Amino acid sequence: MFVRLSNGRQIPVEAHKVKIIQRTDLPPVDQRLAAIEQAGYNTFLLRTRDIFLDMLTDSGTNAMSDNQLAAMMVADDAYAGSESFYKLADSVKDVFGFKHTLPVHQGRAAEHLLAKVFIKPGGYAIMNYHFTTSRAHVELAGGTVLELFGDEALNTDSTDLFKGNMDLAKLQAAIERVGAENVGYVRMEATTNLIGGQPFSMDNLRSVKEIASKHGIPLVFDASLISENAYLVHEREAECQECSIADVILRMMEFVDIMYLSGRKSAAVRGGLIATNNDEYYTQILNWLPVYEGFATYGGMSTKEVEAMAVGLREMTDPMVAGSGAEFVRYFVERLCEEGVPVVTPAGGLACHIDARRFAPHLPQNQYIAGAVAAAIYIASGIRSMERGTISTDRDPHTGAEMMADLELARLAVPRRTYTMSHIEYAVDRLAWLYRNREMIHGLKFVQEPPVLRFFFGRLAPVDNWAAELAGAFKAEYGAGM
Ligand code: F0G
Repeated sequence: MFVRLSNGRQIPVEAHKVKIIQRTDLPPVDQRLAAIEQAGYNTFLLRTRDIFLDMLTDSGTNAMSDNQLAAMMVADDAYAGSESFYKLADSVKDVFGFKHTLPVHQGRAAEHLLAKVFIKPGGYAIMNYHFTTSRAHVELAGGTVLELFGDEALNTDSTDLFKGNMDLAKLQAAIERVGAENVGYVRMEATTNLIGGQPFSMDNLRSVKEIASKHGIPLVFDASLISENAYLVHEREAECQECSIADVILRMMEFVDIMYLSGRKSAAVRGGLIATNNDEYYTQILNWLPVYEGFATYGGMSTKEVEAMAVGLREMTDPMVAGSGAEFVRYFVERLCEEGVPVVTPAGGLACHIDARRFAPHLPQNQYIAGAVAAAIYIASGIRSMERGTISTDRDPHTGAEMMADLELARLAVPRRTYTMSHIEYAVDRLAWLYRNREMIHGLKFVQEPPVLRFFFGRLAPVDNWAAELAGAFKAEYGAGM
């Protein structure tokens, strides 16, 4: 929900009361410097006790509702035939319109099963943009990801409202070039994460479906952030302005052959699922489900989470819930723009993204610009962000060559219903300070580099003494305690 103040400013207002809280402390700057050093300058390796605001991700970090928590108390812990599963399947039918539900332990498990069933060695998956895990599973199955985004997708300073759209001419051309029989699926990711949580339109999805079905290729829809995409479509696309969020979701799903999601985001739980109306696809995936995940009525999830997901899927169609993250993201982006800090525009679905290339233009890309900015943000604020740039882009699997990312983003995720306006204002203030002192940020180099998804466990070091000098400059201005 948002309200307009008498001074004209539009602000997000929480449509909930806080009833349970979790304490969080702001560690002094010296502790932050020691903690990031110990974490190998990788924010994934920080501990919660050293973090004030955890904006690493919106995955599994959202506040649940009272009704979700209540549902967890009545979970049916049967290995097979759990009543909790049937509640989830009913929600999937009502919210998405699919008759088959396959629960999995989280989103990447769905990606693994889809790659296993649909990607042949030497085959392709076509995407509006990759996600780290979605690409890794296609490549591990021997396939290649083709990303067919439009011209504006990588422009971080844009007014294009649908940067997540797939380029239709490129789609047509790619299918002709590689042969429809070699394309396992076309995948559309709702609020496309790695380009800044950007939505695609109903109109684009319709056209993608037309082209895919003309060539007999299934359309796979990553619905992890579906309520945010639906919220932004409702707000931005003329043909959907009269529709409710629930209607937008149902209308989108009419174009979809297989939907999967990480339940950790829009649905505010921990788990995932795959859903379809196609009996053949269902059976093919079902065959592998007990091998990798668990029996078909829990799929590796706790039945408590199954219950909470059944409620969370229904709740995310409420505009008060669907907008709870998106409106805070918009406010965060607007405030940073006012301070002159370069961020991805327009505001998207899951996070505020600092454009690290514009933030620290003096850094060469092979010194991991976004990684250095993320480490600097932590030193300056105790806020944990996530590098989404060249560190998050693994080396070429065939040649081992370093692949420079399209974008260098430091992502400040806004977990739904978790942080308040004063947290956002604090973040804006410290980011503005860091931007004024941006020349002090220098690069990083790898000390330990894992072969796959290296951003998770990789350890880095600063190229010189810049981190300690930055902490010193901060202390000189704000004092040792802040
Ligand atoms: N698809 C999208 C669009 C995602 O954002 C994620 C996860 C996944 C699939 C994988 O789901 O984590 O449940 O296995 N995104 C998290 C993030 C990790 O921080 O953006 P998962």
